[in-house]
Amino acid sequence: MEKPEILYLSQSEVASVNLPMAEIISALETAFRQKGEGKTEMPPKPGIHPGGGDNFIHAMPAYIPALRSAGLKWVSGFLENSKRGLPYITGLLILNDVETGLPLAVMDCVWITAMRTGAATALSARHLARAESSVVGILGCGVQGRTNLEALNVLFPVKKVMAYDIDPGIARRYATEMESRFSVEVVTVQNPRDAVSGCDMVVTAGPILRKPHQTIQPGWMEEGAFASLVDFDSYWHPDAMKQASKFCTDDTEQLLHYQQVGYFQDIPPIHADLGELVAGKKVGRQSAKERTMTANLGLAIDDMAVAPLIYRRALGMGLGKKLPL
Ligand SMILES: NC(=O)c1ccc[n+]([C@@H]2O[C@H](COP(=O)([O-])OP(=O)(O)OC[C@H]3O[C@@H](n4cnc5c(N)ncnc54)[C@H](O)[C@@H]3O)[C@@H](O)[C@H]2O)c1
Repeated sequence: MEKPEILYLSQSEVASVNLPMAEIISALETAFRQKGEGKTEMPPKPGIHPGGGDNFIHAMPAYIPALRSAGLKWVSGFLENSKRGLPYITGLLILNDVETGLPLAVMDCVWITAMRTGAATALSARHLARAESSVVGILGCGVQGRTNLEALNVLFPVKKVMAYDIDPGIARRYATEMESRFSVEVVTVQNPRDAVSGCDMVVTAGPILRKPHQTIQPGWMEEGAFASLVDFDSYWHPDAMKQASKFCTDDTEQLLHYQQVGYFQDIPPIHADLGELVAGKKVGRQSAKERTMTANLGLAIDDMAVAPLIYRRALGMGLGKKLPL
């Protein structure tokens, strides 16, 4: 009998697989359809909080039968890391064989986390945004500001981006990079309102805070616009969120859990989760005038939809290190 081996993939090896965003969106679509049909397994993520505050390390297991994917992401987010010159999000993902349960691979999860979160925004937008949406507002020009724009640009005819960051230098670097990667015009703005008003799609991607700073006021978001709250409700005044006629999430049960631990204390009623939208169990946008929103929490099925694609491509490309079990 062959001795079992695992494939170890570092952060740069995962990235060098170069999995296209369009394939990631399509894998997430399959995963969310299965979720909406009740076919996935994904217990709510348990977490530990070393150092307290908003630090977390979460365990995120999932099984997606149609993608023959099973495994777990073990991911941490430590807000003070930037002061130490370390990344905010770090972690590992274990992919298991669905036939035998054997671990097949251990891989860095940072690239996957960044990309799948953008993909989840775009998939939500496919159901909640106007198809002709072309102006995107980005608040928080970091990793998520990049991948969310990349994913929206796959599904929508994006022409113009209004970019706001609390650090104007970061916004300027973002503008230069995004204009060189995508054929879009990026305007940096000094006032967060200018990255909301006049935009068809808005992504807030600053820090997640238990006590929201509530910067976005009622009246800023246009009629017919869509917003993705990647940083939960941190950016939004409760009355601004209440202007949305459909407030969605990626998983209602997990959002209710977050409410119990102090987040999302004043949000509108939940219309649907992404599985229900993709499986056609709940309706998405119904008119050009509705304001729609999603607060996607980031789910284990997002990660486990992407991991087998990375694993298979990496094997084919001869990437990574094989290690004995
Ligand atoms: N929902 C999910 O699935 C999911 C997944 C991954 C990350 N996140 C969250 O997304 C957020 C962004 O993550 P990231 O990896 O892009 O972080 P990042 O550190 O790369 O980028 C954050 C950016 O926000 C800027 N910023 C800080 N305060 C701001 C403010 N008030 N207004 C505008 N900009 C501000 C920072 O200068 C920085 O450029 C974090 O809150 C993270 O927890 C959510």
